[in-house]
Amino acid sequence: MLVAEHDDPHALRSPAPELLERENSEGDRAARGHRPRVEDDRVAPALHGPFAVLDLARLHGLRLVEDCAHAIETRWNGTPAGLIGDVGCFSFYVTKNVAAAEGGMLLTREPELAARAKTLSLHGLTADAWSRFADQGYRHYQVVEPGFKYNLTDVHAAIALHQLARVEANHARRAAIWARYQAAFAGLPVRRPLEPERGTVRGCHLYTLLVDDAAPRSRDDVLAALAEWKIGAGVHYTALHTHPYYARALGHEPGDFPNALEIGERTFSIPLSPKLTDEDVEDVVAAVCDALS
Ligand SMILES: Cc1ncc(COP(=O)(O)O)c(C=O)c1O
Repeated sequence: MLVAEHDDPHALRSPAPELLERENSEGDRAARGHRPRVEDDRVAPALHGPFAVLDLARLHGLRLVEDCAHAIETRWNGTPAGLIGDVGCFSFYVTKNVAAAEGGMLLTREPELAARAKTLSLHGLTADAWSRFADQGYRHYQVVEPGFKYNLTDVHAAIALHQLARVEANHARRAAIWARYQAAFAGLPVRRPLEPERGTVRGCHLYTLLVDDAAPRSRDDVLAALAEWKIGAGVHYTALHTHPYYARALGHEPGDFPNALEIGERTFSIPLSPKLTDEDVEDVVAAVCDALS
């Protein structure tokens, strides 16, 4: 685990008022300063974005851990993902925009939290192997609490550090490819990603399309057609509740979550690597247009 301490002066903000306004339009809600309440069933944190979730967490003395696994480039209302809550967790798994093969990064403004995460990530020890066997000679260490074996190896960390330096250049290239796709697929029977809200920077991790009913092929037939063009495509994701284990363990029927089901059946993702050449991008565009025309 790589623990980055961040003392960005960005104060933690209250929820974006215009977002809360949309849901909390009644006078009494305005009177309480747009503060969401958990007993208010019309306040659904996911609808309001992370700042409202943060407000809820503060109200109830809870810690907010952000899962920003593949959002290292993302900013929401000016604040980078990972700095909105108390702790941000990023993934450096091989499919991510920063890919160190495995592992990830934990970001926090709180030095005590960072120190504790570091200790917990390696058996609850006061010193890691690197500092136990330093050039100055052996240093004693202690187990101060029961920990885990969740450390990022030094080899993986070395790979990740070099990739961190390329995040912005890679993001610019992904964004350019994204813009080309958005323009190229405007007339096809697909739903394209929405444009980001003002003040928001999108990570551009996956470019996904949703196949419309009016399309000449089903999603799976589109995947097969792309394979014939030798274009790698993916599905992000099949609805979780339709996987056999979750369906069995939790007793879910496919129709229990109709939106997740619909997206899972219609979605496909196309290549979005910064390594794609302009020619590669045009090959992808030609294949997708052919599959959907
Ligand atoms: C939102 C989100 N959280 C967590 C993960 C898991 O990350 P890791 O493979 O590093 O455990 C993923 C992986 O795709 C993800 O998309």
